[in-house]
Amino acid sequence: MNPYETEPAHHGADEDGHRLVGSVADGEDTAVEAALRPKELDEFIGQEKVRAQLDLVLKAARARGATADHVLLSGAPGLGKTTLSMIIAAEMEAPIRITSGPAIQHAGDLAAILSSLQEGEVLFLDEIHRMSRPAEEMLYMAMEDFRVDVIVGKGPGATAIPLELPPFTLVGATTRAGLLPPPLRDRFGFTGHMEFYGPAELERVVHRSARLLDVGIDTEGAAEIAGRSRGTPRIANRLLRRVRDYAQVKADGAVDREIAAAALAVYEVDDRGLDRLDRSVLEALLKLFGGGPVGLSTLSVAVGEERETVEEVAEPFLVREGLLARTPRGRVATPAAWAHLGLTPPRQVPGGPGQGDLFAG
Ligand SMILES: Nc1ncnc2c1ncn2[C@@H]1O[C@H](COP(=O)(O)OP(=O)(O)O)[C@@H](O)[C@H]1O
Ligand SMILES: [Mg+2]
Repeated sequence: MNPYETEPAHHGADEDGHRLVGSVADGEDTAVEAALRPKELDEFIGQEKVRAQLDLVLKAARARGATADHVLLSGAPGLGKTTLSMIIAAEMEAPIRITSGPAIQHAGDLAAILSSLQEGEVLFLDEIHRMSRPAEEMLYMAMEDFRVDVIVGKGPGATAIPLELPPFTLVGATTRAGLLPPPLRDRFGFTGHMEFYGPAELERVVHRSARLLDVGIDTEGAAEIAGRSRGTPRIANRLLRRVRDYAQVKADGAVDREIAAAALAVYEVDDRGLDRLDRSVLEALLKLFGGGPVGLSTLSVAVGEERETVEEVAEPFLVREGLLARTPRGRVATPAAWAHLGLTPPRQVPGGPGQGDLFAG
């Protein structure tokens, strides 16, 4: 069953994972991603800076025969944080334990995990910015001194029993490094900032995944998919799967530019990676409000979406692509937006009130 065909058009901020161009993993991604993950640092495409820095950190630790420093990976969803954490464990020939901030409700949950770690083990803490406060404080001491205080009993009779931990490597991942409290951030020996991928790197991701999935694809077909993947390997892999379906049903299974473009047209992902939601926001901004400035609420009503959906799901990518700007007077389309939708901007009336001013705010 193809979730993209059966699900109603429904775009909430939490629903990002259900968009074909959403960067959060959906169920199908989770099922296939394990097979597509590079296993070694040399196999990991792009992110040259993070890769080179991490290579040094790991090599030095190995040379010392020590456990690697704690590593923080920050970056948007789908850029390879989970993959890198597994690579770190593999390169250190260490086992890995995977958990996440939201999964740790109480400090006791964290204590249980920490106290069962083996020496040298990698603990991957995804969405580390979403951990509870008491757990966070326990983590400070564990990271710094490899020690936790386990509280036994309740009330005045409660006692703290110190517990030694074996040295371990914490790998934290976050989409928002800025949300981490400084004491936590400071306890990482190394922070890798993951960037969005360039088209050439994404092309390599597509070729690599096609090889693993046994899909025949030529250079132009891979470039076509890469160009629509919003700088994100997870999206590239997902688009590749949809293109593969199309190629199997409508052609002989091999993917070239024409097949890739036709397949992604069916799914309404345009040549810049905008989907229907993105385009409806841009279209309203251009056609109804002359390119703005127009207030977020007005724009949202015009496209029939929640404010949050427009602001959190559609706009970040439009802003990143230089198609839309957020200004104090409201949302404004850039010349690139007019060009992308093939429309001509109206002549500016100097000093005259823009139509959007009536609604701004
Ligand atoms: N540098 C890369 N090279 C090849 N594939 C990658 C790379 N980064 C991510 N991927 C692929 O993208 C998918 C999502 O990566 P993941 O590590 O789960 O991202 P994150 O944890 O940052 O959300 C994985 O299936 C992985 O195979
Ligand atoms: Mg992840």
